[in-house]
Amino acid sequence: MPLMVVHHPLAQHYLTHLRDETTKPALFRTLTRKLTILLAIEATRELRLTTHAIRTPLMSINSPVLDDDLVVVPILRAGLGMVDAITELFPEVSVGYIGMERDEATAVASSYYRKLPDVTGRTVLLVDPMLATGGSAARALEDLYGQDPLRVQLICVVAAPEGVARLEADFPSLNIFTAALDEGLNDRKYIVPGLGDFGDRLYGTF
Ligand code: PRP
Ligand code: URA
Repeated sequence: MPLMVVHHPLAQHYLTHLRDETTKPALFRTLTRKLTILLAIEATRELRLTTHAIRTPLMSINSPVLDDDLVVVPILRAGLGMVDAITELFPEVSVGYIGMERDEATAVASSYYRKLPDVTGRTVLLVDPMLATGGSAARALEDLYGQDPLRVQLICVVAAPEGVARLEADFPSLNIFTAALDEGLNDRKYIVPGLGDFGDRLYGTF
């Protein structure tokens, strides 16, 4: 299951308002957080459980609780808009950061920051809203897979077929969760129909 498109009606509703060019940064941030919750629910279906002995008001039972060691890694800057949703769902999650910026002219990503916990044997949620050429995610994934994680789930808002194909070829065990697989990239390597520059719309830097 390398690519999963989340077709939940609420996810599609949020995405439409994110795509809408009249949506302003304050609402854009709220929609990003809400949509990330829905995507993260899908991306964490396979988390391990253990059981705890508890007493309900009626009897004693062994009942399931999460037993997975989670790490969330946003790709700065736009991925930051997705972190709060994950920390809300999983308060015990560790947070690492990878800073990556695409060159405006070449669309080639270069790394400018890295602060990661040890991800060995852990489930990593890599969050970056736009998967375009796949260059930014690929650089981050090389770093993460180098540490032998249990699994890596990439959560994005919109993906382009070009980026998905690149990551599927280079990282066969990666799972990708997105709200949309769009038509493709334009000549500036922006996703179409897409939603524009996610970081600029999130932070009002036009
Ligand atoms: C955007 C986006 C992704 C990247 C996707 O970041 O947030 O990280 O582009 O493009 P790719 O798949 O072709 O690498 P950008 O470099 O614009 O930086 P920002 O998040 O700081 O705005
Ligand atoms: N980064 C964005 O923010 N949007 C795109 O369409 C492609 C890369």
